[in-house]
Amino acid sequence: MSFVLGVDCGTSGTKTVLFDEQGNAAASALREYPMYQPQNGYAEQDPLQWKNAMLDTICEVIGKSGVSAQDIVGIGLSGQMHGLVMLDSGGNVLRNAIIWCDQRTQSQVDRMNSLAADRIVQISANPALTGWTLAKLLWIRDNEPQIFERCRHILLPKDYLRYVLTGEFATEVSDASGMQLLDVKNRCWSEELCSIFDIDTSLLAKVYESCEVTGKVTLHIAEITGLKAGTIVVGGAGDNAAAAIGTGVCSQGRAFTTIGTSGVVFAHTDSPVIDTKGRVHTCCAAVPGSWHVMGVTQGAGLSLKWFRDNFCCAEKETARLLGVDEYYLMDKQAETVPVGCERLLYLPYLMGERTPHLDASARGVFFGLSAVHTRKHMLRAVMEGVAYSLRDCVEVFREMGLSISDMAACGGGGTSALWRSMLADLYGCSVKTITSKEGPALGAAILAAVGAGLFDSVSQACGAIVKQDKVQLPDADRAKVYEQYYQLYRKLYPSLKERFSELSAL
Ligand code: XUL
Repeated sequence: MSFVLGVDCGTSGTKTVLFDEQGNAAASALREYPMYQPQNGYAEQDPLQWKNAMLDTICEVIGKSGVSAQDIVGIGLSGQMHGLVMLDSGGNVLRNAIIWCDQRTQSQVDRMNSLAADRIVQISANPALTGWTLAKLLWIRDNEPQIFERCRHILLPKDYLRYVLTGEFATEVSDASGMQLLDVKNRCWSEELCSIFDIDTSLLAKVYESCEVTGKVTLHIAEITGLKAGTIVVGGAGDNAAAAIGTGVCSQGRAFTTIGTSGVVFAHTDSPVIDTKGRVHTCCAAVPGSWHVMGVTQGAGLSLKWFRDNFCCAEKETARLLGVDEYYLMDKQAETVPVGCERLLYLPYLMGERTPHLDASARGVFFGLSAVHTRKHMLRAVMEGVAYSLRDCVEVFREMGLSISDMAACGGGGTSALWRSMLADLYGCSVKTITSKEGPALGAAILAAVGAGLFDSVSQACGAIVKQDKVQLPDADRAKVYEQYYQLYRKLYPSLKERFSELSAL
């Protein structure tokens, strides 16, 4: 039996899962690491912590599974998108990575727009965005010229891990789409965008399709992990494009919602469809010759984790004593509060917001707090607020004529029956789950299986491996109540927009 390894470099931790060729997990391991926020709106991580997390988890899964390294035929990488890793000529990390949810680059984005707003959209298929890689690179050039001067390679988070495994500077089309330097329609770097922003193309990694072989495990890495030297590493995909493969979303008309640190509503498309208002992103999909559209909630699981870390010490302790997941206990508490939280709403804009507002200055809000409300109401309001924000994404898709009738759910939040029922009620369609809970890691491993020749195509592999599980149907009574709250939720951002920018100027 052959095995493939999926490594997912997430925001809260790196997870490595070893799968057999039918997609069953033989072993998995997770290492968590912190996100640093040196200022309000800043977000950074240390690439060396990603590297250690990957190497430790690979050793752990090989040890735990007892699978022989000879039988591991390929590795796929997936990871948080848009992060900027800068390396010097010797391949050393020059500074912490500025990651996807960082919002420090508004003035760089304003400059990008004044130079070439239209060409950016026409070529990169997206408007200039504060969280995307190019704006971060320009920020470094403006604010840390001594780092910029020494930089010889820029890599995305998972592509830095590829460099560690193989010594190759490579990326693939789905993640590269989020750097704002890719010609998304033609799936190659844009010389024109590089020249407008004066970016030396030698900084960029070679671009592959997601299931292509990009390099092989080096002898040194084989010695420290137990992998076989020469094991192939395929392109892999950005976490959302990889989750699409892991949930079987690889043909037109299929969609999924993931609630991880960010929240994403994702639809596969056969052509690069662009939202003229720039509210959702258009990127290359991990299936060659296809694309996807995605709406992003910046602070989805991030909001719930923030609430847990600051207000749920008791649940953390009880969960530890009972040996259960703390989020499971939080779900149980939220279930005791009625829909609408007795008139309490939450706007999940802790790290600004993308879809549909594209506003780096927006911040979180509890609206309607009264003396009747308890911590449990606030907890449920956080979950509902995230679901309202994801509904905002679905509204944009509907405006663009994209179908969302076949909707799957994944990510940590997708395992919550309560959150899935909120999505079904707010979207007005059924929301299904997949038997494997490993979305991005499974997707990356499927891409490795294709690269290793176990399957002829990504869709054939998805058809053989991805299996549907539970289906959550919408409930008409609850949906009616949610709809009233959602309509109020939609009015809150426009009435606060100016106040958010006043706040950010203080
Ligand atoms: C997508 C995005 C996030 C990150 C982190 O545009 O920024 O989904 O990939 O998960």
